[in-house]
Amino acid sequence: MKKIASVFVILLLLIGVSACNRKETTEDNKNNKIIVVYFSYTGNTKRLVDYVVEKYDCDSYRIEAKDEYNKGDTVFDQNTRAYKEQHDPTCRPEIRYELPDLKEYDTIFLAYPIWHGLAPKIIYTFLENVDVDNKRIIPFCTSANNPVGDSVNSLKHIKPDALWDEGIRFASTVEKKEFIRWLDSLVLSPA
Ligand SMILES: Cc1cc2nc3c(=O)[nH]c(=O)nc-3n(C[C@H](O)[C@H](O)[C@H](O)COP(=O)(O)O)c2cc1C
Repeated sequence: MKKIASVFVILLLLIGVSACNRKETTEDNKNNKIIVVYFSYTGNTKRLVDYVVEKYDCDSYRIEAKDEYNKGDTVFDQNTRAYKEQHDPTCRPEIRYELPDLKEYDTIFLAYPIWHGLAPKIIYTFLENVDVDNKRIIPFCTSANNPVGDSVNSLKHIKPDALWDEGIRFASTVEKKEFIRWLDSLVLSPA
């Protein structure tokens, strides 16, 4: 009986500790309004975006192309729409839905897959049409093997007055716990 009672007490303690941790996260970020803006074609990046939303209980905005991509557009070879767009410096695919008003946000997670070494051109369309000056942008990408660096350097040219984090790349199949470890390492200070 005594044993059952102690197991019960331990369980209660564990539940208490986890509730406390969750509260701490929410409290820490209550003055720091966060949004995750993302593009994801096959869903790998979106899976990670969902973890961010789950952790911070924050808003998200999915960038979708007016002229939707389909399988043939994104095959990894030179005659596809994606390849041509990524190699055309002037290409800015149109976004389907109204853009979010970013005025109220302090921190923007910007998430995307790597397409032919860079962020998909629709991310450029997005950045060119919003005001992110003095806002913190935390880029992260998923990819088969390319690192994130070139994509972030290129995006920085579009919005040099945003406060860019270095950015980080995750493998398309990264485990949740590895991603969460990175999220936990971020210091998101209140505005
Ligand atoms: C059109 C296209 C181009 C890609 N180019 C690259 C690339 O240059 N380097 C790389 O490591 N992965 C590349 N990939 C793989 C994707 O970055 C990877 O599968 C990513 O996780 C997809 O994310 P998503 O499911 O959110 O769209 C490419 C995928 C597609 C569809």
